[in-house]
Amino acid sequence: MKPEIAIIGAGYVGLPLASVFAAAGRSVVLVDVSPERAAMINRGESYIEDVPSEELAPLVRDGLVKATTDYDEVMSVQAILIALPTPLSAQREPDLSIVLAAVKELSLRLQRGHLIVLESTTYPGTTREQVQPILEQSGLKAGVDFHLAFSPERVDPGRSDWTTKTTPKVVGGLTPACTKQAVALYSSAVDTVVEVSSPEAAELTKLLENIFRSVNIALVNELAQLCERMGIDVWEVVDAAATKPFGFMSFKPGPGLGGHCIPIDPFYLTWKAREYDFTTEFIELAGKINENMPYWCRGRISRALNSAERSIRGSKILVIGVSYKADIGDMRESPALKVIELLLEEGADLSYHDPHVPELEELGLVSVPLDPGAYDCVAIVTNHSSIDYTQLVADSKLVVDFRNATGRDGVTNGKVHKL
Ligand SMILES: NC(=O)c1ccc[n+]([C@@H]2O[C@H](COP(=O)([O-])OP(=O)(O)OC[C@H]3O[C@@H](n4cnc5c(N)ncnc54)[C@H](O)[C@@H]3O)[C@@H](O)[C@H]2O)c1
Repeated sequence: MKPEIAIIGAGYVGLPLASVFAAAGRSVVLVDVSPERAAMINRGESYIEDVPSEELAPLVRDGLVKATTDYDEVMSVQAILIALPTPLSAQREPDLSIVLAAVKELSLRLQRGHLIVLESTTYPGTTREQVQPILEQSGLKAGVDFHLAFSPERVDPGRSDWTTKTTPKVVGGLTPACTKQAVALYSSAVDTVVEVSSPEAAELTKLLENIFRSVNIALVNELAQLCERMGIDVWEVVDAAATKPFGFMSFKPGPGLGGHCIPIDPFYLTWKAREYDFTTEFIELAGKINENMPYWCRGRISRALNSAERSIRGSKILVIGVSYKADIGDMRESPALKVIELLLEEGADLSYHDPHVPELEELGLVSVPLDPGAYDCVAIVTNHSSIDYTQLVADSKLVVDFRNATGRDGVTNGKVHKL
């Protein structure tokens, strides 16, 4: 079957997107630099937890999904979606090099009638100021010879109540005709498509969503620190506030931000705002509070050990859960890495247990069997649901719980110290 749609980047965004289009009967080719990833997909094997192999394999077998490393495959498709990483540089500035290198490859193969949609999270203006000029090096004109739009991905790895198919998709084209084409494409596979007036509006929509989370998480993280001083259980307060049926949305404190999006994306806007002599103070402040959380966690562990007349140096500490959130193995930007690094710096004899992450290669650690009684302190950094926390508390000497995994036990049981 000749593919109708090409998706550049077969990662957390690209692979679920491909499976949604394929499930709607649209044939997709995934283009990825990794030959290993392409080979796995072509064998029907998934490496993304949200797309089980049982779901992918029949789509591959029916010829609806295939993968390649060869950009030439895009020449015969109708639409090309770009789902490539948009990291920050070492100086914490937007690094569009991966996206723009791929766009250059596309410009060499661009055909009249192509629809190109950027899905990668980025600052307002990227589609028009960066992507369009490179594509137009082909000699074809955007909005005339080919269509160009931005549509942010909203995937939340591990979530099952909302999926790529059921989550509304925001679309903003360079021209009304571009928007129309992109809306028609997504409407063929996702339930709801929301049109906005420009790529810039669509780009900023995604950033607003992520900044909203970052700022609200920072707010409860700050409150958690105050609550420790005041002797108030922040979790009880957040849960009680969440009973208000209107005007309040619950965010949980924790050891810091993780994942590809929330720790990174807000700074794309901070950078762009400078061009307009504007300082995005909420983003900066939230970043400062959230980035400090692993340091605060180290202090919390140190105070808990102190209550048992011990120091971090020389203590056997077991970190439970190292991925950035519960029940997945995604390590990107995980605050657990920073917490572990800080504890090792202080001389802890450190081990970790995570059923989803067998090895932390960069730290030379492997997940150990769960034997909490063998440690001076057990620190719950990520609360995977497969662990029995009541049993864990019963078997441990001292527990520091940054996720409220131990629930009310944390309040009633003297050996649990909560964030
Ligand atoms: N992961 C999320 O939860 C999420 C959610 C919403 C939006 N986003 C955004 O979507 C974009 C993609 O993120 P992701 O999580 O899917 O990334 P990812 O790292 O999971 O996947 C990217 C894929 O692109 C491939 N790749 C890298 N360079 C390439 C190139 N030049 N040509 C072809 N393939 C290349 C990699 O091998 C990898 O398979 C980012 O901008 C991200 O911010 C991610």
